[in-house]
Amino acid sequence: LRVTRGTVETARWCERYRAAGLSVGFAPTMGALHAGHVSLFARARRECDRAVASIFVNPTQFGPGEDLSRYPRPLEADLEACRQAGCDLVFVGEAADVYPPGYETWVEVEDLARPLCGRSRPGHFRGVATVVAKLLAIVRPHRAYFGQKDFQQARVIERLARDLDLGVEIRICETVREPDGLAMSSRNRYLDAAGRRAAARIPRGLRAAGRLVAGGETSVARVLAELTRELAPDPDLEIEYAEARDAESLAEFPAATLPRPPRRILLAVAARVRGTRLIDNLLIPPLDAEHSPARGAEEPRG
Ligand code: PAF
Repeated sequence: LRVTRGTVETARWCERYRAAGLSVGFAPTMGALHAGHVSLFARARRECDRAVASIFVNPTQFGPGEDLSRYPRPLEADLEACRQAGCDLVFVGEAADVYPPGYETWVEVEDLARPLCGRSRPGHFRGVATVVAKLLAIVRPHRAYFGQKDFQQARVIERLARDLDLGVEIRICETVREPDGLAMSSRNRYLDAAGRRAAARIPRGLRAAGRLVAGGETSVARVLAELTRELAPDPDLEIEYAEARDAESLAEFPAATLPRPPRRILLAVAARVRGTRLIDNLLIPPLDAEHSPARGAEEPRG
């Protein structure tokens, strides 16, 4: 595993890979790596000749009062995880290098960044889009890998890659879950036992709502009532949003009715569990798509 610390050094190594005719897969992260990240590295490894990761806690995507200063930074364990996963190179970024003095260029994706998390985290997707555009410009990968848990983020990144002609294929990879169904997240480590029990309601609620849709329910209100029935009674869990949206545009459905003819539907939740903000989602394929179960909140294992 090669560990690079500067943007110039990182770009130079990635350029060497490309010049040798090797395909480059890239998974950017903020560290505190878990099995979800490892699955991105593994897919990059499978699909590309070289797997590149980055670890950079990007300050510009945190709002005032968010968890930037206490965000976990277990660097040695993270480097070991990259090594175990077979990454070839990991860029460990420093704020002063990524945003040198005088930095003043921002990437803003408009409509896709407005709803859902964009509402409660103003400036968040501007920070994400900017740092991802920069990282893609440094690494210039053939493919880049992102988790479905952050579905809105992945859609924003797909759009910026397309709009800026970055020539990278964006791959959205299935959410990896704990045995109780909870989506893997670096923030899960903030949860105590009671928090874990409350948090596990989120995937349960998504699955219950998904079953209702699969059974033919088209009323958004009834689907969301099913979702919140699982979440709402828990005093440790405060819902920020629970919504059904078009999975491509992230727009709401007209007349609050799920579409027939079918479209891909996103059920998305953000909640605070004993102070920790968690998000999760379920993607429901068009109902006439044969044998394609909803992706995102599968039954727990074991
Ligand atoms: O999903 C994340 O960890 C971050 O938002 C990303 C994509 C690495 C950008 O900082």
